[in-house]
Amino acid sequence: MVVKSALVFVVVAVLLTYYCNEPVPLDIAHPTQFASFGVVMRTVWNMAILGDYLGVGTEPQNLRYILGSLIGAAQRVKGTSYREGLDCRDTMFNRVRVRVYEPVSVAKSGAKVPGLVYIHGGGWVMLSVDVFDELTARVARELGIVVVSVEYRLAPEHLFPAAFDDCVAATKFFLQNAELYNVDRTRIGISGDSSGGNLAAAVTLALVKEKGLPKLKTQALIYPALQALDFNTPSYTDHGHLNTLSKEKMISYWLWYLNNNSSFKEVLGANNHTSEQLKKSQYAGYVDHKMVRPNLRPKVVTPIKKESIKFPEIPNVATILDPRFAPLMADDDDLKDLPPTFVMTCEYDVLRDDGVMYATRLRKAGVRVEHDHYERAFHGFLPQNDVNEVAETAVQNYISYLKKNL
Ligand SMILES: *[C@@H]1O[C@H](CO)[C@@H](O)[C@H](O)[C@H]1NC(C)=O
Ligand SMILES: *[C@@H]1O[C@H](CO)[C@@H](O)[C@H](O)[C@H]1NC(C)=O
Ligand SMILES: *[C@@H]1O[C@H](CO)[C@@H](O)[C@H](O)[C@H]1NC(C)=O
Repeated sequence: MVVKSALVFVVVAVLLTYYCNEPVPLDIAHPTQFASFGVVMRTVWNMAILGDYLGVGTEPQNLRYILGSLIGAAQRVKGTSYREGLDCRDTMFNRVRVRVYEPVSVAKSGAKVPGLVYIHGGGWVMLSVDVFDELTARVARELGIVVVSVEYRLAPEHLFPAAFDDCVAATKFFLQNAELYNVDRTRIGISGDSSGGNLAAAVTLALVKEKGLPKLKTQALIYPALQALDFNTPSYTDHGHLNTLSKEKMISYWLWYLNNNSSFKEVLGANNHTSEQLKKSQYAGYVDHKMVRPNLRPKVVTPIKKESIKFPEIPNVATILDPRFAPLMADDDDLKDLPPTFVMTCEYDVLRDDGVMYATRLRKAGVRVEHDHYERAFHGFLPQNDVNEVAETAVQNYISYLKKNL
């Protein structure tokens, strides 16, 4: 009996060790936390896939449910004392659900303050305004400004451009009705993390062209996803195996947003969704690896018309060149009018180079850019600022950027 139990114990321990054996970069801040986050993400994904296989729900539905429940439980333990001094209301801006955080002191004094639109991350398929409640409340409280957090529609139930359309509609409503919230309409910025950074960048590009609207004062992009043209950038190649956000999962998110057909994962992963012609066009220049690896030779490209580019048979694939979907695909002419920009990137992140390339191209186009790069950090580290001082420093730097630029 004892021998049998001991045997079971050893087998379980070996399996657990194997399962929890996360690849951990040597210089990462808080290796244990990084490894646990990776194991949690991997487990959640595996449960979501298993659920789909058993017919319990689709992968994105299961992801949403499992992560939502885990985070919700943690938040209930923590409470919402961080909302003190804020009036938080769920309401609608142009038929889009939003949460408005207004410091009570602002409503009392009637003075006009700056505003910020925040667009949450979650691969366009999951998470919510609730998950980012603490960060958005903190920004409103510490800066004494009004924050609007957007509950945009999620993929794959709502494919591109639904999320983009919602974020544009909510942002426009805020710009047009700022006074109702004691906000100075000339001092409204936009921000978001990960897929929310994608949407914030896309909205900023779109609104620059709108006449008769106040201009956005700044955009602040936190480890944003900005392109689906090249899944072999140095950061995808170097860090695609990390479970905090692997190359495979990032491609799954893009596909759910694009066409909800995961059978193209391998094709995208091999960059086979782009033709030889496209790989030599100006668009390839927009993701030139030289921006990340200065000792490379610049890519030789030939400008071609978007309409004449050929694609393989993948539903909606031409959308990868649409800046509303992939802001890094915007032409230089469209970049030059963008407001001052903040870009945060992490070393251990497949999306690192998306951010580095956008910062580089914006600077070249004459836009003022502040680029914060965290060498020892990973994708999604920001909300772990309670226990990770690098994340806390990053939050403070982000808030102080907003303070100076709103
Ligand atoms: C997305 O595709 C999956 C797999 O083909 C399917 O089960 C699911 O119903 C689709 N979801 C939507 C919202 O179309
Ligand atoms: C996804 O694409 C594959 C390959 O073109 C096709 O066979 C399949 O029917 C598609 N799935 C859905 C749910 O549209
Ligand atoms: C990608 O294309 C190359 C060259 O045509 C081919 O050898 C390879 O099998 C393709 N891979 C995938 C995953 O489509």
